[in-house]
Amino acid sequence: MLRVAIIGSGLQCRRRAPVVKDDPGAELKVIASLHLDHARKMAQAMGCEASDRWESVVFRDDVDAVLVCTPPHVHADISVAAMKAGKHVLCEKPLTRTLAEAETMVRVARETGRVLKCGFNHRHHPAIWDAKRLLDEGRLGKPLIGRCRYGICGRPGYEKEWRADPKQAAGGQFIEQGTHAMDLFRWFMGEFRDVACMTGVQYFKEQTLDDNGMAVFRMEGGATASLHASLTQWKNLFSFELFGEDAYVIVEGLGSSYGTERLVFGKRDFDAPFAETVTEYRGGDRSWNAEWKEFMGAIRDKREPIGNGRDGLEAMRVALAAYESERTGRILKVRDIA
Ligand SMILES: NC(=O)c1ccc[n+]([C@@H]2O[C@H](COP(=O)([O-])OP(=O)(O)OC[C@H]3O[C@@H](n4cnc5c(N)ncnc54)[C@H](O)[C@@H]3O)[C@@H](O)[C@H]2O)c1
Repeated sequence: MLRVAIIGSGLQCRRRAPVVKDDPGAELKVIASLHLDHARKMAQAMGCEASDRWESVVFRDDVDAVLVCTPPHVHADISVAAMKAGKHVLCEKPLTRTLAEAETMVRVARETGRVLKCGFNHRHHPAIWDAKRLLDEGRLGKPLIGRCRYGICGRPGYEKEWRADPKQAAGGQFIEQGTHAMDLFRWFMGEFRDVACMTGVQYFKEQTLDDNGMAVFRMEGGATASLHASLTQWKNLFSFELFGEDAYVIVEGLGSSYGTERLVFGKRDFDAPFAETVTEYRGGDRSWNAEWKEFMGAIRDKREPIGNGRDGLEAMRVALAAYESERTGRILKVRDIA
């Protein structure tokens, strides 16, 4: 039985807590948050204890794993303390705010032998999973280009949220949502080589962090990729495309407000009529459940999880290189960002 604490009682806790509660192999012990009344409300609904002190929760003897569902500025402090206290950690993306913090988390995971998973739930969406399987089976051929558009509709009052606060967030929308795409590009196409990026504050002007970011990348293998992350995509959109030498995959939707999740698979054929296979994944967002199973599996099998701490660190490096490209107005080598 894996005994679990969740730190942070907001949106991500609402998504992850029911998954833990429904797992017969896990027990949700406690939910902690800055605001005790919020933690209590969640804890009451989930049938567990509440706390407003993560500093004591991560040291509890009756806790084996900690889910870090807070804003990024405290990810590293909580995760490092938890791992040093012998707990496995699933930490939300973006892993941290700085590379130094991310490197510390990865190092502490190695030294303590604890499982550290970054909350890259997009890897666990069934359409993405099946697209990756097609790539791994050699059905797409060598990747040539990747393209991701990922956007949400920002909300009134956005400027008052932690997401708009440079002291708590890792950056603007470009990293907040875009980090998922950067992780997927890396998972599908290998390491990044070059990046050029432009970001802007175009609509939510009462705050300073980007509400739109566009970047182009070249991968070490020669493939190219583009990303647009947006807070002014007034109708939510997720589209991830990968074109290989022999075939292509297009993933659209993530369930719920992003629309039905679907995978399109088509082959290169210069003459025949186009024939695409379309798979639609019914029901809601299954990624949280699948990601949890992967975390549990990694703990059970004493192995690295898919989407581990290093993956979180490398996605950070790409995002920070992109911001540096915007700042300097230059195309940058991602590996030079330290
Ligand atoms: N994987 C995804 O698709 C996805 C989606 C949304 C958010 N996230 C990530 O999840 C994390 C949390 O986002 P959210 O949307 O749940 O935010 P939220 O604002 O809904 O909830 C944040 C929670 O953290 C608590 N908190 C803040 N500072 C704290 C501190 N110092 N100590 C203890 N608790 C503290 C708040 O009280 C609140 O309960 C962020 O890193 C975000 O980027 C991931």
